[in-house]
Amino acid sequence: MALFLVACAAYVGWDRDVGQADPPSGQDAPSLTLRGLMPGNVRIGAAADGALLDADPRYRATLAADFNAITAENAMKWANLEPTPGAYDWTASDRLISFAQENGQAVYGHTLVWHSSVPPWVSEEWSAERLRAALRQHVVTTVTRYRGQVWAWDVVNEVIAEDGSLRDSMWLRRLGPSYIADAFRWAHEADPDARLFINEYGVEGRTKKANGLFKLVRGLRADGVPVHGVGFQAHLRLDAVPEDPIGNMRRFAALGVSVAVTELDVRLALPAKPEMLLDQALLYQHMLRACLAVSTCESFTVWGFTDASSWISAHYPGYGAACLYDKDMRAKPARDLLLHELRTHADETPS
Ligand code: G3I
Repeated sequence: MALFLVACAAYVGWDRDVGQADPPSGQDAPSLTLRGLMPGNVRIGAAADGALLDADPRYRATLAADFNAITAENAMKWANLEPTPGAYDWTASDRLISFAQENGQAVYGHTLVWHSSVPPWVSEEWSAERLRAALRQHVVTTVTRYRGQVWAWDVVNEVIAEDGSLRDSMWLRRLGPSYIADAFRWAHEADPDARLFINEYGVEGRTKKANGLFKLVRGLRADGVPVHGVGFQAHLRLDAVPEDPIGNMRRFAALGVSVAVTELDVRLALPAKPEMLLDQALLYQHMLRACLAVSTCESFTVWGFTDASSWISAHYPGYGAACLYDKDMRAKPARDLLLHELRTHADETPS
């Protein structure tokens, strides 16, 4: 794998000097930032969260300089918004929205319906009617609050199992499969202009799970459900490179939906060696190329941009270094290669 990727690096003419060691200053050199080079029809986003956003000026500067979109990594999850029934806490999500607006960034809302991050007071023991009403209330309240301020929502997140069937969740067990269509319709009523996505991991290549997602989206579209986009999370590792992501995304696009890379990161076994960082860079490039090759790819988002605040180490002990910047906010080869890819794309695209 490493040798293959090094050969690819030589082929694309990748050069470590393309990037820069210091955080970019977007005002001074917009063309040297990811957002400065991104084609106008594709947003470049990063998941971001409260703690570093408040505490670290370098974090804020890099987020503002390199990205023109932000996804709420945790701030808009139900358990965080409504820790006790009816007592909403919008502090963190409002803060994120303000930051984005101050920096000319779009906000991607994440996530309305999920099997995880459900408030502990929501009970599977409730009647189906009560559970459905609570879910509806959450979707409508959240989407209504940010109507016109959130360009897209992950309406349902991770609803497919590995074998391509629907995931066995509280929602499926108690409400049946119709909860998916219902959630899209509720969200659409609350903000008719928001783009509504179904978001999933392990579907970037032609997997069984991707086939299951494809059938689900095809069925929803045939039923007139307002599904506007499919999000490919892309939590990747070096030994499982997605197979044919371009062809895979294109078959979804042919259903009439947009596509997006929504949560890209590439985790490495620690300590990360230089050749691993190069392989990682090529995998980031692989996914950017896929997005740029699909005409309806609306956004390309990384799940955290600095190793200082990535979710990986807490969830995969022994792994980390998954982001575009290291923990000291120095650009890694992955960011350099994305810049290079964007420059090449611009040179090859007729103006
Ligand atoms: O905020 C508390 C903090 O007060 C407490 O001290 C600390 C102790 O562990 O926990 C903190 O909350 C954690 C939160 O991240 C913020 O760091 C939660 O325990 C932890 O569960 C939560 O993990 C998040 C995870 O989703 C679960 O919601 C990750 O940050 C977030 O990156 C991850 O994101 C998911 C996407 O939503 C869906 N796709 C997969 C992706 C990665 O798992």
